Amino acid sequence: MYIPPPLSVRRNKLSIENFSVESLAQRFGTPIYVYSENRIRENFQRLKNAFQKYYPNFEILYAVKANNNPAIAKILADEGSGMDVCNPAEIWLSRHLGMPKSKTLYTGNYCTDEELAYGAKYCDRINLDDIALLPRLLKFGKPKVLSFRINPKIGKGSVKTNVFAGPEAKFGIPIEKAMQAYAAAKKAGIKRFGMHMMTGSCVLEPDYFEKITGILLDEAGRIARRLKIKFEFIDIGGGFGIPYRPEEKPLDIEKTAQLVTKIFREKCHQFKLGNVTLMVEPGRYFVGDAGVLIGTVHMIKESYQRFAGVDVTINHLVRPKMYGAYHHIVVANKFRKPAKYPINICGSICDSGDILAKVRPLPKLARGDLLAICNAGAYGFSMSSQYNSRPRAREVLINDSRATIIREAEKIEDLFLRCKPTL
Ligand SMILES: Cc1ncc(COP(=O)(O)O)c(C=O)c1O
Repeated sequence: MYIPPPLSVRRNKLSIENFSVESLAQRFGTPIYVYSENRIRENFQRLKNAFQKYYPNFEILYAVKANNNPAIAKILADEGSGMDVCNPAEIWLSRHLGMPKSKTLYTGNYCTDEELAYGAKYCDRINLDDIALLPRLLKFGKPKVLSFRINPKIGKGSVKTNVFAGPEAKFGIPIEKAMQAYAAAKKAGIKRFGMHMMTGSCVLEPDYFEKITGILLDEAGRIARRLKIKFEFIDIGGGFGIPYRPEEKPLDIEKTAQLVTKIFREKCHQFKLGNVTLMVEPGRYFVGDAGVLIGTVHMIKESYQRFAGVDVTINHLVRPKMYGAYHHIVVANKFRKPAKYPINICGSICDSGDILAKVRPLPKLARGDLLAICNAGAYGFSMSSQYNSRPRAREVLINDSRATIIREAEKIEDLFLRCKPTL
């Protein structure tokens, strides 16, 4: 019986902290996203402690795009995280959460002038995705600290279409042109520098992080030496993976931290880079396994195959359609029953890809059963849409014995709120 966090069995019921999944469904209705505050804090602390003990000059930015609910971002801010923000909306959110300008890093890509101006106004640290953005940014003033996003020509993703660096990626400055970028920035009078990359997505192998850190530091070393500039931070990005499938092992964060900080230290020493801040910007690692999407089975259909219709659709969780992603499903009211009845789990959207799980062995399903769709905390709600005129789901945050609605479900009227003429 595989029950991933934050689910556990309490008083013989499948639960999230002190609440049974059944009681949550009864109280808040379905579909609902439920997040465990304790799990988010544990995930943050685990990563922070692992790195900080080997390399105290360590900074974490939460990648808000993984889950932009203000209550979730606030938990991470309370833990001491800064914020990786990628557009004016995320900058706006960080400001409204009281995040100091000095604790954000604005990493846009293919930015408009309006976006650059907003970033320049509200963030001390700007990370540019292309050299051509430099003169455009400078129209709005010099940032306190300037960084470039470097594409080190390798990338890795659990899903083919989710690779953030490498020869085919739209992101970053090719590593061969990094020197040119920093030379231009120095010539423009910039005095404080950082360096950044974001290469992987949901990576579970510690040595991958070691490898990319080594590549980036070699380049930082060459640049610092040739241009006589000093790097204040080097940001190795996010991409720290979580297991989605029962057979996958969690990322060994201790080993990752050990390998990364060792090579980071060695290279800093080799190139006399000084005491540079090592920075990371995870999203999924903090919130991915803290969230569960709960839905109700409302019909069973015997067609050429068996289908269970649930009130969760791909407008709530698009990852299965978009990436062919696997999300483990536990049947909350039958979690002890053997999973030996293969069935397709589908939503009610008029889209052939509205399948959350294909031919998945589960306990025999019936109308009224409750499904807990696991690992839905990252890129779940944040990628949800109103496709097929479907309102987005409610979000609930659990902290021990407290359950709080942190985003109301949309209503039908909300779908047409900004239409003209008003309905
Ligand atoms: C620039 C940047 N940083 C950080 C992240 C977070 O990635 P993850 O959630 O895989 O840690 C992303 C994800 O798209 C990103 O684009």
